[in-house]
Formats: sequence, C-alpha cells, structure tokens
Amino acid sequence: MEGHVTYRFSTQKVDYHFGFGASRLSAITDRKSTVLLMDENVHALHGTRYRGWECIVIPPGERFKVQSTVDGIIQGLIERKADRQFTLVGIGGGVITDLAGYAASVYMRGIRFGFMPTTLLAMVDASIGGKNGIDVGPYKNMVGIIRQPAFILYDWAFLRTLPDAQWSEGFAEIIKHACIRDATAFRLLATYDIDRIRRKKEILHPLIERNARLKSAVVRRDEFERNERRLLNFGHTLGHAIETVHGLSHGSAVAVGMVLACRLSETRTGFKGTESVKSLIEAYGLPTSHPFHVTKVLDVLRMDKKRVSREMNYILLERIGKGIVHGLPMDELEGWVRSIR
Ligand SMILES: NC(=O)c1ccc[n+]([C@@H]2O[C@H](COP(=O)([O-])OP(=O)(O)OC[C@H]3O[C@@H](n4cnc5c(N)ncnc54)[C@H](O)[C@@H]3O)[C@@H](O)[C@H]2O)c1
Ligand SMILES: [Zn+2]
Repeated sequence: MEGHVTYRFSTQKVDYHFGFGASRLSAITDRKSTVLLMDENVHALHGTRYRGWECIVIPPGERFKVQSTVDGIIQGLIERKADRQFTLVGIGGGVITDLAGYAASVYMRGIRFGFMPTTLLAMVDASIGGKNGIDVGPYKNMVGIIRQPAFILYDWAFLRTLPDAQWSEGFAEIIKHACIRDATAFRLLATYDIDRIRRKKEILHPLIERNARLKSAVVRRDEFERNERRLLNFGHTLGHAIETVHGLSHGSAVAVGMVLACRLSETRTGFKGTESVKSLIEAYGLPTSHPFHVTKVLDVLRMDKKRVSREMNYILLERIGKGIVHGLPMDELEGWVRSIR
C-alpha cells in the first residue's frame, strides 16, 4: 500500500511517502545534488539499491553519534563540492537520522535534508519531529537543533533485515503512543504479539503509518514542547534514569518506566489499566520491571531536562489512550520512588 501526506510545521512542510521503493527517491530529490548517509550495516545490506548515488558511509552504533563523526560528514560534503542547493539524505536507524539532520542543519548554515528510516524505531519515532542531536561524553542528545526534514520516505523492504532485538525497541514507542493517545491501536496491538504482528504486513505497515502520523500530529500542534509534545515522554522520565544507571536498552528502560508511570497514575488519577499495559509490554518482548539503584536513579532524575526548578512534568495516564502532563514536586516524586520496589 502506498500513501502520501504532508504535515506543515512552523517553518517547513514535511512530505511523508509511505510504502515506496528505493526508486521513489529519484522523484523526490535530484541525484546530481544529493548525498546519502548510511552506516556500514545498512550499506552492506541495502547499498546495492543505491548504486550511482553519492554516499557517505560511517561505522554503526550510538558511540559514533558524536561531533567527530559530524566533522567527517561535513568533510565528505566539502569533498563532494556540496553547495547550499544540495540535499543530505539519512538512510538508517535513529543514529543516522539524528546525524544527518544535525549535520545538514549546520553545514553552510543549513541545507535541505530528508530521511529514509530503516529501523522500526526510526520509522515511528526518531525520524519524526525535527529534534536531531548528538551525544557529548556520557550525555545523550546534549547538542542539537529542532529543524524538520523536507521528506520522510518509508520503504518497507528495510524491515526484512531488521535484527530481532530492534523490533522490541520500536514496539516500546508504539506501545507508548497507544497508551497516551490511541486506545484503538492499543486494542489492535493486544490482539497480536510481536512474532505474529511482524509477519502480518497488512496490519504492520498501516500501524507504522498510524504511529508516524500520531507523532507528527502531536509535534505539529506543539513543535517546541510547551505542552502536548511532553506526552511523548511517557515512560521516559524514570525510564531514562534507569537506562543511564543500569545500561538497559532504551526500549527496555522505557517499558519499565511506563509500568512505573502506570503505578504512579493509579494513585494520582485513579488509572486502572496497569495490568493491561503490562500484558502488552510482555507480549512485545519487553520487561515490566527491573531492580534499580534508588540513590543513583534519583541523582539522574534531578538532572532531567523535564524538571522545572522544584517540579517535574511527569506524564501519567487517566485511562488507556489518555495521557496527561502532571506537575509533580520533586520531593513527592523522590518519596514515591523510594517507596516503590
Ligand atoms: N530525534 C529523535 O526525535 C529521536 C527519537 C528517538 C530516538 N532517537 C535516537 O535514535 C537512536 C536509536 O535509533 P535506532 O535504534 O534506530 O539506532 P541505530 O541507528 O543505531 O540502528 C540500530 C542498529 O540497527 C542497524 N540497522 C538499521 N537498519 C537496519 C536494517 N534495516 N537491517 C539491519 N540492520 C539495521 C544499524 O546499523 C544499527 O546497528 C538513538 O541515538 C536515539 O537517541 C532520536
Ligand atoms: Zn524513546
């Protein structure tokens, strides 16, 4: 199934092309003034489909999402004589889309860029919303910009080679979207599990599109995160702290964070769906709990970007499909964290 939709953000409209093959790229961007960015894995598995395109290939992994890689990409653009009319296209997971969006935004004070997300996570989350950044030492996404891509091109063929662990990473964010805004998707997800839904292309592809649209709509209404966009942090406050302290994968940490946020919601909003959320998380290969080091986790929480002086904007659920932003005094949050486990 193919589809096309345009979302208008404050400074840029973004064209989404769902379900097209590699050939669509030449219709969207001129090959002579385009440079592709891929990591070695994606290049080895899918590079042959992009023969004839200029391509910068970098090593894979989060540890390369740093300034020295951006310098290398900029060097690559200079060597290819890229001017301000050029387009940089990131073809890869979230590391590549972040690097491409960031490098393109600073090269010559900003050139056009687009994405072809190749992981489930990048399709439903990382490629959308315009936040593109790099890590500095231990600090993730410490430096970056908010600038929208010109286009996002979805080619389902990439999913054929996606490693098992990467599927759960993407489903953590899909479950998050369902919890905060999409009870219908929650019910759909609950009728499957990760193995069955992966094989059901006629369910999976529209579900990815639905998630891309959901995040885009939330971001469009609140691009600079003053209000509704904060809902996308559901599960990410404690989740991120546990990820930092205990080295869990992002998806696993967010899954644990979502269950904790559900439990906190029970006491604050009367939320009754914790068991349903837990069952769904398990069905998609993610953990529902993890023992954590309270003092160290609280240290990271105090550094959280979502904290505003003595209060944390915590995302809670009123019911499945209805997330809310809840201002929680830090001492209350800390007291609650100490009381759980
Ligand atoms: N900008 C945002 O709003 C945003 C949102 C969420 C996450 N992110 C960022 O995204 C990153 C994580 O994304 P990710 O998990 O996609 O990481 P990634 O780009 O590192 O990809 C994960 C692994 O899968 C491999 N891979 C990618 N596509 C493949 C395919 N089709 N077949 C086989 N292997 C493939 C990659 O080479 C890599 O080894 C983090 O850096 C995170 O900060 C950004
Ligand atoms: Zn996340």
